[in-house]
This record gives sequence, C-alpha cells and structure tokens, in this order.
Amino acid sequence: MAIRKVRTIGDEILRKECKPVKEMTPRLLELIDDMFETMYETNGVGLAAPQVGILKQLVVIDVEDGNQYVLINPEIIETSGSQTGYEGCLSVPGKTGIVTRPNKVKVRAYNENMELFELEGEELLARAICHECAHLHGELFVDLVEGELEDTETAYEETEE
Ligand code: NI
Repeated sequence: MAIRKVRTIGDEILRKECKPVKEMTPRLLELIDDMFETMYETNGVGLAAPQVGILKQLVVIDVEDGNQYVLINPEIIETSGSQTGYEGCLSVPGKTGIVTRPNKVKVRAYNENMELFELEGEELLARAICHECAHLHGELFVDLVEGELEDTETAYEETEE
C-alpha cells in the first residue's frame, strides 16, 4: 500500500470525464487499497480515482459508519429531500462552502468483486456519495457553493461562536 499524491483544483485531470471500469485487475485492487490509505492519512471521508490522477469510475467512502464502501461505475438512481451544510474536498485544501445536496440517495454500483449492488445513504453518507460521484464527471463542490468559498479555519471559528 502507498499514499498517493492528491491532485488539487487547477489540475485539468479533475475536470475530465472518467471511463467505466470493465474488469477488476490486481492494479485496480492496489489502487483501491492506496485510495483508502490516502483518504485516512488526509482525514477525508471519501476519495475519487481522478483525485489521484486515475480517470476511472471508482470511488471509496468511509463516513465512519463502520463500513468501507467501494463504488465502481456508480449511478445515482434515486434522490429525495435536501440538506444544506458545509462541504470540503481533499482537492480544494483549506476551503469550505455551503452546498445543498439530497438528504437521501440510492446508488447502484459494482463492488471490488465486480458484483452489482445498491446502497442507500442518508445525511453525511448521501452527501459523500453525491460529492464523490460528481468527481467522476469532472464536477467539484466549488461549482455548487452557495455564496462565498470560505477558509476552513474561519468557517470553524464562526461555527464555534
Ligand atoms: Ni472531493
């Protein structure tokens, strides 16, 4: 396992469309391991393959609900409700902003064994699924921010007051 370099905003690769994964390979399994390691090292709750420079439809998520989710070729098939709150991204270091997302989503994807499954998420998990899936289509949370992008430190200070 290895920690991979996280691409940051301004890097063209983050704006590209990712290709579907056709079959699992030892290299992709290694990528999945590395993505989890990189995500934990940087205290993220999700990471998409283009963030480490790989244009494949693959994301990992761990919102500390006791599960490690691997979503390959994910497709959001249902959404409901809405939630508005601060969001950040490992590719936009030090910044945060208010984003509205569905409160509940259902996603269909393949797991690391290329078995099709469906996952329902609410609240933070729903937000993470939407955020990570958007990365696969070249979209970043900054595109959706309501108002100004804020410095993470300032936003936290305001929350505490
Ligand atoms: Ni992100």
